[in-house]
Amino acid sequence: MAVSTSPPGAGPDLLSSIRPGIKDLAESPIRVVSDYGLSLKDADIIPLWFGEPDLPTPQFIIDAASKAMNDGHLFYTDNRGVPPLRQAISKYMGRLYGRPFELERISVTTSAMHALMLIQEMLIDPGDNMVVVVPLWPNLIETVHIMGGETRLISLSEEGGRWSLDLDALLDACDERTRAIMINSPNNPTGWMMETEEQQAVLDFARKRGLWIVADDVYARLVYDRGHAPSFAEIADPDDRVLTVNSFSKSWSMTGWRLGWITAPPVLETTIAKLNEYNIAGPTTFVQYAGATAIEDGEQFIAESVERYRQNRDLVHQRLAAMDRVTLARPDAAFYAFFSVDGITDSLEFAKTLVRETGVGLAPGTSFGPNVDDHLRLCFAASHGALSQALDRLEAYL
Ligand SMILES: Cc1ncc(COP(=O)(O)O)c(C=O)c1O
Repeated sequence: MAVSTSPPGAGPDLLSSIRPGIKDLAESPIRVVSDYGLSLKDADIIPLWFGEPDLPTPQFIIDAASKAMNDGHLFYTDNRGVPPLRQAISKYMGRLYGRPFELERISVTTSAMHALMLIQEMLIDPGDNMVVVVPLWPNLIETVHIMGGETRLISLSEEGGRWSLDLDALLDACDERTRAIMINSPNNPTGWMMETEEQQAVLDFARKRGLWIVADDVYARLVYDRGHAPSFAEIADPDDRVLTVNSFSKSWSMTGWRLGWITAPPVLETTIAKLNEYNIAGPTTFVQYAGATAIEDGEQFIAESVERYRQNRDLVHQRLAAMDRVTLARPDAAFYAFFSVDGITDSLEFAKTLVRETGVGLAPGTSFGPNVDDHLRLCFAASHGALSQALDRLEAYL
């Protein structure tokens, strides 16, 4: 057994000897609230704080993983992803966006988070910056900070029941150290979607300035009142500096499987493969075979999930909008209601009080950027019963 030779009290010194940017990484306020809520004894908690589907992964996907294991897909494989999955993704993207996506543009990753981290490894030197549209799920922002980069946050504004982006402010924020503009649309937490004309303006600007666009499309299929969300992948040419990130987590109820992909210019195929090798030596093999089945046979599951989330969206929106102190824009996509409560100035403290007093677990607005500390995020990927009960408790408390 190894015996520690550190003198007593060396712990803080050890911590100070790691990179300052890593030592000082922010803790996610969502975790702070959920850890607090789950530590409460005998609390009857309705957890709507995390962003994940409540339904399990469909059985046909589980069966495909099991078959892949039994077929012997248990070893290291191609760093770009196994051919059947890359082919399935390439066809899927082509179907969705009505243009071809050559195989060289598709690289499989272990989740969207991993894809984003790998992208920052490609783009960010210390002191570089990324211009980022917020509110936004905090993990994306921290990937830039891990690489020693800075983020310039441009806030959506909420007016007349809609979230909107000031394009001039976004473009004006780019300077000579800006490497990329990062946009998550459909957006977590607001449900905002960027329109094609706005994407075209950003693409034109990025082309002119030689900037990258990092587009997080993980909610691309969870759209309620139109076919699919506009995507940079739809309008960009293969050789544009556009990197689109996707995930199996949300559309196919696979958050724990950790599988995603990047769509990139063909010239980056080998670079991304090398980064995959040196980060993870390739995504989990049998999970990739299950991913191919999910993509090929999962359309009915997605349609049913979207219909269910749409009903949940309507319930949550109607009930919240009817509460005196609450203001919210109706989300057009993703599965979150992001609402403000009159009188709140510290969303973290409020979310803790709320879970203690009512058992309703929500994510505090402060997690998602500046100017939204009066907001809370509720994930409506939950059963009708759980949502109704949470809304009853909220109504009574507010
Ligand atoms: C905007 C956004 N991007 C990425 C992810 C993470 O996806 P994955 O589970 O594939 O890492 C999430 C999860 O909540 C998200 O909201």
